[in-house]
Amino acid sequence: MIREVLRMGDPRLLQKAQPVEQFDTPELHALIQDMRDTMAHLNGAGLAAPQIGVGLQVVIFGVKPSPGRPDIEEVPDTVLINPTLTALGNEMIESWEGCLSVPGMRGLVPRFRHIRYQGFDEKGNKIDRTVEGFHAIVVQHEVDHLHGILYPMRIRDLSNFGFADVLFPGQALEDD
Ligand code: NI
Repeated sequence: MIREVLRMGDPRLLQKAQPVEQFDTPELHALIQDMRDTMAHLNGAGLAAPQIGVGLQVVIFGVKPSPGRPDIEEVPDTVLINPTLTALGNEMIESWEGCLSVPGMRGLVPRFRHIRYQGFDEKGNKIDRTVEGFHAIVVQHEVDHLHGILYPMRIRDLSNFGFADVLFPGQALEDD
């Protein structure tokens, strides 16, 4: 079921999400299905449960090259629960991010280039990946949602924040 995505200004987006305690339950599968439906409907690259008003540590993400974005790095479709992130090194990269909770906007955000992330899938299987670049950016953005952080809060210079269609006329960009 497609759910309403909360927009920046809603206090629920600023709360810390709670860990999932039971895996492979009908409730958890229903939540993830709703998140998938909502993300697909809105063409997102990722979605965190707090964005649909559920304060649990659940994120989904995944990116495939499309006709509008043939050169984008592929990110595997992933359900990540109770995640922990470890930065590997201090190297940062800046890229233009968007968010389904901040529709129509883009901002230039610094992130760690290399990270390790750990957590569980919906069945409770362990996930442990070391990634870099766009994949690492997407994960950091989604996990931030579980800590009540929206990407505009990480923009270093707010002159690098604006409307997507003004910043990038003629380009179709995904939100996450
Ligand atoms: Ni987001």
